[in-house]
Amino acid sequence: MTNQWEDYLYEYRERRGGAPAYLTETLGCQMNERDSETIAGLLSGMGYTRAVSRNEAAVIVVNTCSVRENADNRFFGMLGQIKKIKEARPETITAVCGCMMQQQHIVDTVREKYPWVDIIFGTHNIHEFPKLLQNAVLERVKSVLVHGEAGEIIEGLPAKREFPFKAYVNIMFGCDNYCSYCIVPYTRGRERSRQPAAIERETAELARDGVKEIMLLGQNVNSYRGRDFGAMSGNALDFPGLLGRLNAINGIERIRFMTSHPKDLSQGLIDAYKSCEKLCGAIHLPVQSGSSRVLARMNRRYTKDEYIGLIDRLRAAAPDIAVTTDLIVGFPGETETDFEETMELIERIRFDSAFTFLYSPRRGTPAALYDDPVSEEDKHRRFNRMVERLNEITAEKNRAYMGRTEIVLAEGSSKTNPAMMTGKTDSGKVVNFRAPAELAGRMLPVRITGIRTFSLYGELPADGGTC
Ligand code: SAH
Ligand code: SF4
Ligand code: F3S
Repeated sequence: MTNQWEDYLYEYRERRGGAPAYLTETLGCQMNERDSETIAGLLSGMGYTRAVSRNEAAVIVVNTCSVRENADNRFFGMLGQIKKIKEARPETITAVCGCMMQQQHIVDTVREKYPWVDIIFGTHNIHEFPKLLQNAVLERVKSVLVHGEAGEIIEGLPAKREFPFKAYVNIMFGCDNYCSYCIVPYTRGRERSRQPAAIERETAELARDGVKEIMLLGQNVNSYRGRDFGAMSGNALDFPGLLGRLNAINGIERIRFMTSHPKDLSQGLIDAYKSCEKLCGAIHLPVQSGSSRVLARMNRRYTKDEYIGLIDRLRAAAPDIAVTTDLIVGFPGETETDFEETMELIERIRFDSAFTFLYSPRRGTPAALYDDPVSEEDKHRRFNRMVERLNEITAEKNRAYMGRTEIVLAEGSSKTNPAMMTGKTDSGKVVNFRAPAELAGRMLPVRITGIRTFSLYGELPADGGTC
């Protein structure tokens, strides 16, 4: 920290009776949530504390997502609200970052229509944010820093985690798949894998810090290529190999990952469900559509039958595995027959749950130029029918848990009712149960006594037994 910055902090505390506070607001996926944890870590390192509301924040950071149009719209809506704060308290620093900022037309719009925004930075510039912030606070300098290309992966950045007992661990960044509808390869850059040793080190530190469950993050974890194990001889550590290494780290009890792409889900990964006892019995495997014709136009590079084959093999290896997915309705040119094929796939697979999205054209992606004769009305009708059936299946799948005793990692008490604890089963189902707050962080046997569509309700055994 520079002397000038120390002076600023000192004066701030003298004037306001406390350290300046930051607020991060995150849209989008787990990658963004993890990036916001890094941003929070950097801000803590600068002497900021965490704010509970925008009104008390000295700096507000909005981490944006561009995956669908409504994510863009939410961001612009937020800016409208933050403008009022900036008008009332002009000294509040406003920073915007994340996937939207990797697109020049968005940066241009922010600069033109929201000129009061102080800092714009991209997904490859997070480590440079403290410097930009100091310039904004001390010199009143506005800045835009967006690198089009990702440089080397920066290790060792601090993070302030959202949850005490579970943590996100990035294993790779970027995506090379170029699904024809998707903006992510353009906003996150080419695929880059972290060194296995760096991932192991971070995981071991998390375990020492009390973390029991890790969620490995990457847009396509199957493409993970650890580079320091015989990379020259072509033997770089692959994703199942990495799972094996992390499985050996003491203190970590559960390993999850997302997302894996069906086109390169290997037999090695399927086998890992048998050989890695810490790997949770769950997989999020986005299928997007049940029509092989649409899948080809989406550039997904697998067919409906190949997807079904994968799930059959996964279920053979791990019979209780929970399978969740993403589905897009109304891809340009999706016919009624294509849609019916997706409905058939849903009946065949019976997903534990699914995220459903209406196709949203993204500027710069190939599909945005495809002819799209399907009416909005048809798309919405299909969407509603699909969601209704998926929800029924989710509820049916949840009903199968009734009366079972599941091991649940108690994550913490509910904010609205401190007597209620929330946690997840190995298969990733949310369970709410009555338990004292001190049990947070424990693996508990919970008997499932009630079923909701999206969660389970349970009870601790009378002796409160712990594992
Ligand atoms: N890398 C992940 C997905 C990241 S985006 C994967 O491939 O699994 C999360 C989901 O958003 C995608 O699976 C897809 O279902 C949806 N999505 C992405 N682009 C979209 C678009 N243009 N319109 C609608 N949904 C989209
Ligand atoms: Fe997007 Fe496809 Fe990459 Fe997933 S795999 S991030 S859907 S391009
Ligand atoms: Fe959104 Fe970027 Fe994630 S576009 S879904 S925040 S990678």
